[in-house]
Amino acid sequence: MPIVTPGSEGRDMRAELLPPELLPLFDDRFVRSCDLVEEYVRALAMAVVREAGLDGATRGPLAAGMDGAAERLVCAARGEAGAPAPREPEAIAAEQQAHDPAALPTYRIAEAAAAAWPAVLRGEVRGEEALFSPANAALWPDYFSNDNPLYAINNRVGAQGAAHALPAGPLRVLELGGGLGSASLALLDALEAAGRLGDLVEYRFTELAPPFLRRAQRTLGARRPGLPIAYARTDIDQPLAGQGIAPGSVDLAWAVNTVHVARDLGATLAELRAALRPGGVLVLGECLRPYPGAPVYPEFVFHLLEPFRAPRLDAALRPEPGFLTPEAWQASFLAAGFEPLPIYPDVVRIRAVYPAFFVGALGARRP
Ligand SMILES: C[S@@+](CC[C@H](N)C(=O)[O-])C[C@H]1O[C@@H](n2cnc3c(N)ncnc32)[C@H](O)[C@@H]1O
Repeated sequence: MPIVTPGSEGRDMRAELLPPELLPLFDDRFVRSCDLVEEYVRALAMAVVREAGLDGATRGPLAAGMDGAAERLVCAARGEAGAPAPREPEAIAAEQQAHDPAALPTYRIAEAAAAAWPAVLRGEVRGEEALFSPANAALWPDYFSNDNPLYAINNRVGAQGAAHALPAGPLRVLELGGGLGSASLALLDALEAAGRLGDLVEYRFTELAPPFLRRAQRTLGARRPGLPIAYARTDIDQPLAGQGIAPGSVDLAWAVNTVHVARDLGATLAELRAALRPGGVLVLGECLRPYPGAPVYPEFVFHLLEPFRAPRLDAALRPEPGFLTPEAWQASFLAAGFEPLPIYPDVVRIRAVYPAFFVGALGARRP
């Protein structure tokens, strides 16, 4: 996301396009880190494409179901039309180190993904095993952290979006796919800043992976002692009522970068709608695909994972796997019986000027 783009008529338009509370997040340091990591991931994608022979006649055999992933990699390696060739990955990482080392955990995860791709494409190992191997375990807490500006942006924008959409009165919050708890911490900060922490009567933190759940419990217990936080393993692909979440019992359902992995997005949204009380809201902090088919750099990592890569598709509502466009989210909300709220920030306006902008909070109210 260069600050001055062809769409910005030679001006820095951040102050016109972003709400004031988000401006400090999109400072020059962050924007430069975004440019660097995009260049880095493209350089890694090019190396994978070369190594796996995806771009030429020598293309090796791919495991079943990997054609789409191979196409995405080729697309990520190609980059935008007219984009200059990236530098060597080491040079880009060295510049990041000098510019802002706090963003390096994203580089480490991207590097782990690059190392995994060739064997995953050949079907020798599953992406889940490779990405979450014991050797990579130590990388994740640093990546899913509010100290990593490249990940924290999802949490902070999502939490601000949630704070804007909060219903009045007591708050029973349900978080899905809470991972290591960094989004929860961001939401609790935002509730505090909005003077709503005192309204919190229940914060139900849920997550699928027991090791993440245990770690989040330790972190949140230490960082936010005394709050009414309950912890449970919950699968967004299964009925929520069967997992102890009573229909109509939630005022705010929220998740950061989780609901796009739902196997059947329509079914998961219907479950979330049923869990909310009338007037309750769903807020999703999500990486957004700016336009259909446009690559987004975090996909280089998450396309390794089968739920990300292979959800149930639907020509109208879920036309491609992975991250969704803002329009696709809103169409899915409507189809699931929600009233969509304005997207926070206004990514449709922003992407016309900054096409690489890809974070937003999608809100929807249960009528
Ligand atoms: C991108 S991470 C979100 C991390 C989290 N926001 C944080 O701050 O640490 C997505 C999370 O969704 C979880 N997840 C994946 N599939 C899920 C499912 N079917 N049901 C619930 N959670 C799931 C993953 O284990 C992971 O923790």
